[in-house]
Amino acid sequence: MPRLGGKVAVITGGAGGIGAATGQLFCEEGARVVLVDRDAAAMAAACAAIRAAVPGAVLLDLVLDTAEEASAARIVAETTRAFGRLDVLVNNAGIRSYEPLAEAKAETWRRILEVNLLSHAFLSREALPALRATRGNIVNVASTHAVNPRAGMGQYDATKAAIVSLTKTLAFEEARHGVRVNAVCPGATLTPFHVRRFAAQGRTREALEAERLENCLLARWAQPREIAYPILWLASDEASYVTAAVLMADGGMKVL
Ligand SMILES: NC(=O)c1ccc[n+]([C@@H]2O[C@H](COP(=O)([O-])OP(=O)(O)OC[C@H]3O[C@@H](n4cnc5c(N)ncnc54)[C@H](O)[C@@H]3O)[C@@H](O)[C@H]2O)c1
Repeated sequence: MPRLGGKVAVITGGAGGIGAATGQLFCEEGARVVLVDRDAAAMAAACAAIRAAVPGAVLLDLVLDTAEEASAARIVAETTRAFGRLDVLVNNAGIRSYEPLAEAKAETWRRILEVNLLSHAFLSREALPALRATRGNIVNVASTHAVNPRAGMGQYDATKAAIVSLTKTLAFEEARHGVRVNAVCPGATLTPFHVRRFAAQGRTREALEAERLENCLLARWAQPREIAYPILWLASDEASYVTAAVLMADGGMKVL
């Protein structure tokens, strides 16, 4: 029995590393999947890869900027029009900023808050009526750095801490409506974003995969699928007694 048989899931940032891996795994587990991303080329590539890997995958792709408030209602409307229901929302779209707080510009602050936090808030709000109808759930993708501070990415880390807070409040408010709300906090995950970032410094994917990371017990990068599995579990009925949880998928960073 597939773990998401009969379910309909929306995944934002669905053309990126973790989003596309989650989309593929959800399709493998029987879900009908709506991928949302603002990058049309990456979306086309992600959908082609998923269809090649999962024959018969049922996929709808929406090329939209989730930071636009109007996108939220449109995503829910297109999903329910295509599939008649919504069971799972994975809020995964995110951007980074590498400005130290002493140099952080207002413009960067505004954009990262819009993409990383407000898009989650707006889409969750618009999805709740449909999720209440199916007693569905939300999985928010935060970061280990929501709870493990570091230097250099204060704006990003603040948005991720806010997502953890939003997750708990929403879980509190929605429990009586039967909607579960959880967060996954990935650690260093070798997605195309990071592969491209390090390629610009002359480092290959193979070198990154072989590298020993000193900041977590497992001492290596995660593959995107290793983050998709915790998301799948929280999204599935196997986690029916789990809400307001913040699941660290960071190779054991917090204990160090
Ligand atoms: N990769 C990591 O090491 C890591 C670690 C912790 C948390 N995360 C989080 O996981 C999530 C996915 O990360 P990833 O590494 O797969 O990143 P990624 O950059 O590969 O994917 C992010 C996707 O989101 C899309 N996106 C960005 N802004 C958008 C917008 N406004 N509207 C629609 N789509 C938008 C991008 O086009 C991209 O396809 C992010 O929220 C990220 O913060 C990643």
